[in-house]
Amino acid sequence: MKFYIDSAIISEITEIANWGILSGVTTNPTLIAQAGQNFKETIIKICEIAKGPVSAEVTAENYQEMIEQGKEFANWHELVVVKLPCNINGLKACRYLSSQGIPTNLTLCFSVNQALLCARAGAKYVSPFIGRLEDINENGLNLIESIREVFTVHSLKTEIIAASIRTPQHITESARLGANIATIPYKLFANLIKHPLTDSGIDKFMQDWKNRNN
Ligand code: E4P
Repeated sequence: MKFYIDSAIISEITEIANWGILSGVTTNPTLIAQAGQNFKETIIKICEIAKGPVSAEVTAENYQEMIEQGKEFANWHELVVVKLPCNINGLKACRYLSSQGIPTNLTLCFSVNQALLCARAGAKYVSPFIGRLEDINENGLNLIESIREVFTVHSLKTEIIAASIRTPQHITESARLGANIATIPYKLFANLIKHPLTDSGIDKFMQDWKNRNN
């Protein structure tokens, strides 16, 4: 499973890219608004830092405007992936943009049927939202497992991005269940590498090294 960061904040993306484990970035209108910078400039800068696929989400709601925005975003940088909603207009735009060689990420996916339709519309990525399902007392990880099963049975190549991740357990389980990618909020990355036994082990090694007699 690859690691993406779910953020539009340049300092966060730069830090995780510097760890040497970052494969891509996802943004959404909320994250872009929080970052408080110009949308186009932010996406271009993220592409230069990430050196991997960067999802930029359309804000249009009708099909024609979605494809216009999608084509515009794709012109900004070769790493841009056009993020579209899992609805009828999103599917239609996905089919059109995919036919033009523009990669798409179908977002706000909450069911296997939605994921299957996205794959058939030519989506490069589909993003099932784990945390938001759990917010309404449904099991988000079961959705990852079911989509993986259906995509495997039907030899569908669309990549699964485990999204709306809230806990380290979501990440471990998404990897076990066969998600291709997890897109993770900045603050969770530190939790993944940190372990108290690693820290105390380093302290002990350093102490013994300083106290050596040779
Ligand atoms: C994914 O691409 C989305 O931007 C993101 O994971 C949404 O997460 P949230 O439910 O925490 O807003």
